[in-house]
Amino acid sequence: MNKPKLLIIDDDETILNQMKWALMETYDIFLAGDRRKGLDLFRRELPPLVTLDLGLPPYPRDATEGLRALSEMLEMNAKTKILVVSGNSDQSNALQAIEQGAYDFFKKPIELDEIQVTLRRALNLFHLEEENRRLKRKPVPGSGIIGASRAMETLHKTVRKIANNSFPVLISGESGTGKELIAHAIHHQSDRAEKPFVAINCGAIPENLMESELFGHEKGSFTGAHAQRKGRIEFAEGGTLFLDEIGELGLNLQVKLLRFLQEKTLERVGGRKSYEIDARVVAATNRDLKELTQSGAFREDLYYRLSVVSVTSPPLREREGDLLLLTHAFLNQFSEEARKKIKGLTKEAIEALSVYDWPGNVRELENKIKRAVVMAEGAFLTAEDLELANQSGPPPLPRLKDAKDRLERELAEEALTRYGGNITHAASALGISRQAFHDIISKHGIERPS
Ligand SMILES: Nc1ncnc2c1ncn2[C@@H]1O[C@H](COP(=O)(O)OP(=O)(O)OP(=O)(O)O)[C@@H](O)[C@H]1O
Ligand SMILES: [Mg+2]
Repeated sequence: MNKPKLLIIDDDETILNQMKWALMETYDIFLAGDRRKGLDLFRRELPPLVTLDLGLPPYPRDATEGLRALSEMLEMNAKTKILVVSGNSDQSNALQAIEQGAYDFFKKPIELDEIQVTLRRALNLFHLEEENRRLKRKPVPGSGIIGASRAMETLHKTVRKIANNSFPVLISGESGTGKELIAHAIHHQSDRAEKPFVAINCGAIPENLMESELFGHEKGSFTGAHAQRKGRIEFAEGGTLFLDEIGELGLNLQVKLLRFLQEKTLERVGGRKSYEIDARVVAATNRDLKELTQSGAFREDLYYRLSVVSVTSPPLREREGDLLLLTHAFLNQFSEEARKKIKGLTKEAIEALSVYDWPGNVRELENKIKRAVVMAEGAFLTAEDLELANQSGPPPLPRLKDAKDRLERELAEEALTRYGGNITHAASALGISRQAFHDIISKHGIERPS
């Protein structure tokens, strides 16, 4: 069993160690001493639990950095349970944290027993909520559509809505976006779930074979047809017929398919007998069918018949936030399969994943992670393992003035923190006059730690 991940963000080394020792048996612990490090770890590990000290450098005496970290983490994953720890007696910060979505708060000094209990309760709640989401989505064992982006929420909603009627469905979307998974999900969420799901790829075999494959044939209908044979449509009786790559279907078969959709009956090749079949048709395409109708490659009447209910599978680059979710899911799956202990991705790897455009969508991501897990030598996947180091290229150079400004600001903040807000010491540490230091403070609006 994997231990649940717990990220502890606190600038007090003693507390970090104390918590680590007290909790490491139960949790997989990650430690961070400031907001930036905390966010990096958060992004990489997506822990269900975080304890967050509100007073963090460079302003350890107020709650600005802590509250900022809180909202940034919740923005990345609103499901995380964040326990806020506040050092000062000021209750209003803690209350504000709760208002912003923190799970609970503690006052220092921390009672370890108390925090243990609260963490356990938070984790239970996290699992419960996850289970509820799962049930609400009613995913099928094996269907496993991963995604929490708005685009995917909409998709799930559509699937739930359309699953239980018998209209044909057209699923369109770029290659590798999960159209086949969606087709399965539609079937499994419908009242046809117990009946067969029969899939056929319309581009896979030549048209003359395709016809008997789909519609079946009667004995002696053509050379080699020694016995009568049912087609795929008949096998889907009571269930769902999935026509993948429908855009590749030949024009003759388009006519036959349209007739089947209109009349719910079919004749096998070489036969006159008509069979009544109740099969729900779900079709998928990565081509622009509308455009194919204009060029005459696809029948317009069939297009309209099929697209009464249409579902679009969004490209990966439009699924805000799903990239990392999918990455972690694939990473877990493949490292388990490969029996490798890979803990996550390096910062550069995550950066490279995020700037890449993913023309091959989820399939490409899946393949890249699979390969990277095989190649990885360390505990973290690198941009090189992912073969993304080159595509993304070096990061664009910042404007020199921006870089100078940033450095100036960071150094001034750091100096102030180190010297507890004492301007004379901070200025002399940086080798500048007090006046020059004051100028920097007011230029950047830096707050002095009180
Ligand atoms: N949301 C998702 N969560 C988990 N896995 C996914 C998701 N979407 C796609 N996949 C995986 O990505 C791969 C490609 O998905 P799928 O075959 O359904 O794509 P497709 O849209 O049918 O692509 P094509 O048009 O090339 O046939 C599969 O291995 C699938 O399991
Ligand atoms: Mg497909």
